[in-house]
Amino acid sequence: CGIVGYIGPRHVKDVVVGGLRKLEYRGYDSAGIATLGNDQISVVKSVGRLANLEDKLVSESIEGQIGIGHTRWATHGRPSDENAHPHQDCQGQFAIVHNGIIENYVQIREELMQKGHTFKSETDTEVIVHLIEDMYDGNFEATIVAASKRIRGAYALVVLAKNHPDRLIAVRKSSPLIVGLGEGENFVASDIPAILEYTRDVYVLDDGEMAVVRRDSVDCYPLNEKTDPAHLVPVQKDVYKVTWDAVSAERGGFEHFMLKEIHEQPRAITDTLRGRLAEDLSSVHLNELSWTEDFLQSIDRIHIVACGTSWHAGLVGKAAIERFAKIPVEVEVASEYRYRDPLYSPNTLVIVITQSGETADTLAALRDSKQKGLRVLAITNVVGSSAAREADDVLITWAGPEIAVASTKAYTTQLVALYLLAVYLGQERGTLAEADRNEVLNALAKLPTVAEKVLDSAPLIEKFALDYQDARDTFFIGRGLDHAVSLEGALKLKEISYIHAESYAAGELKHGTLALITEGVPVIALATQTELYEKTLSNIKEVKARDAFVLGVTWAGDEELQKSVDEVIYLPKTSPLVAPIAAVVPLQLLAYYAAVVRGNDVDKPRNLAKSVTVE
Ligand code: G6P
Repeated sequence: CGIVGYIGPRHVKDVVVGGLRKLEYRGYDSAGIATLGNDQISVVKSVGRLANLEDKLVSESIEGQIGIGHTRWATHGRPSDENAHPHQDCQGQFAIVHNGIIENYVQIREELMQKGHTFKSETDTEVIVHLIEDMYDGNFEATIVAASKRIRGAYALVVLAKNHPDRLIAVRKSSPLIVGLGEGENFVASDIPAILEYTRDVYVLDDGEMAVVRRDSVDCYPLNEKTDPAHLVPVQKDVYKVTWDAVSAERGGFEHFMLKEIHEQPRAITDTLRGRLAEDLSSVHLNELSWTEDFLQSIDRIHIVACGTSWHAGLVGKAAIERFAKIPVEVEVASEYRYRDPLYSPNTLVIVITQSGETADTLAALRDSKQKGLRVLAITNVVGSSAAREADDVLITWAGPEIAVASTKAYTTQLVALYLLAVYLGQERGTLAEADRNEVLNALAKLPTVAEKVLDSAPLIEKFALDYQDARDTFFIGRGLDHAVSLEGALKLKEISYIHAESYAAGELKHGTLALITEGVPVIALATQTELYEKTLSNIKEVKARDAFVLGVTWAGDEELQKSVDEVIYLPKTSPLVAPIAAVVPLQLLAYYAAVVRGNDVDKPRNLAKSVTVE
């Protein structure tokens, strides 16, 4: 979602709506604005694109010189006028905009309802503003500090208060927020593009920091458990000068959305794990599933149905579910599944995986399965999408909006969701071996750090992409989970670099494809599966014997592989069980750099669409 706040002499509506327009790419299912003027907070909001809000604002006058606005990407609660931000308390004393997820909102909401608060929306955000109302004692800052201590999760908040028309208060916890510094005016925003028209001087709020933003001053305070609301001590902040142009600012300083999204993976993985992995790493909780105990125990088959990258995620999901939950899984592309008569039992669970939640073939499979009376679980990135609305149960991946056509963070978060699901099924059905549980849950918890470190391999990959920019064919090989990932690596390369790429189970190469391996043909060989390592190494030697140029991918500390290949990418050591999440990152980077050196339109490759809503 996008957040904008303003205090100053300009028309607040113009500044806020103008800022939101710059952030529309962050989410566009609804938008809203709140201003404070004549001792009153006025709120206007509208479902749909920002243009709908602008239409409304033509007829509704909304005044003041202080205001906040929001463009939404639905998380809790479908897209609607009611769920759009800003949200208000019962008496209209406060208005709030929020990015992120409040983990303990159900509990706070119940508490506040018992105290007589009435809620108008299904959002987690609304509890914050009621909590603020409940705690308010005349001291705005102290109330926000106290409320921040109650809420758990990730958030960026901006609050407007009727009784304090001279200031906005902003708080950042694991969700970006900046303050734009002007002359006699100041700005707050989730992202720099929103304010670039007015200033290039910003304070980047640190995690757990609160900013009190007035016309002529900005004070920042670090917040933690021990912060005493009555004695806040401001910190000295450095002014950060933005040097990017407006266009690259939209992409957070990255050259393309795809690169930005590749770099967002550590955060996206953290968000997808949040609240689902027990803090002591002993178990997985998927409270969003409405399955009865009987159903959970009775599942005797699983069909995973998806398209493209989501189908590749399904292949990893099959391996994880079969290992941890011992339930037979079939994975099929939706365009095939929907036109054949798949065998199923009454207790077959159908899992559809779809980033957008709108892919026509996947939705058709979902609907057919429901007609047969089967329970359908959707794994999707878009709250309020058709898949999310129509499936019996939904697991949301918290990747945030993905703009580049080639899917990256949506894929890795799908993998995280599938691992969590596989562990959950195994844990509830008593099939999960203790050693597996410890290994996989520990590895999942460390994944954000692993994903962060693996990005360090970028320079080596960039060089490889440069050297092989004229390659006609490339091959991706691996065994077991490495094969599933190599399919995704080959797809990425094809999609955006337009270099022909094929993925093979390494042991299958000798049954035909080896004929295509000649001198200098690039082969990307994945060797992360310890149990299959020796076998993969033999296959690598087969291609080396035909003079292929081999780029190997293995764990840090492996001294062996470099003897048999030309270049090696080392992944930070983690469990081979979750290797696909680490191993796919260099492959995404390879596709990215190959597309860049060939001068392709990285974010919008020819002939492809982000969401294919036709058959
Ligand atoms: C399109 C996109 C792919 C995506 C596929 C499935 O073809 O270009 O990147 O993997 O659709 O999309 P979904 O939204 O269902 O995951």
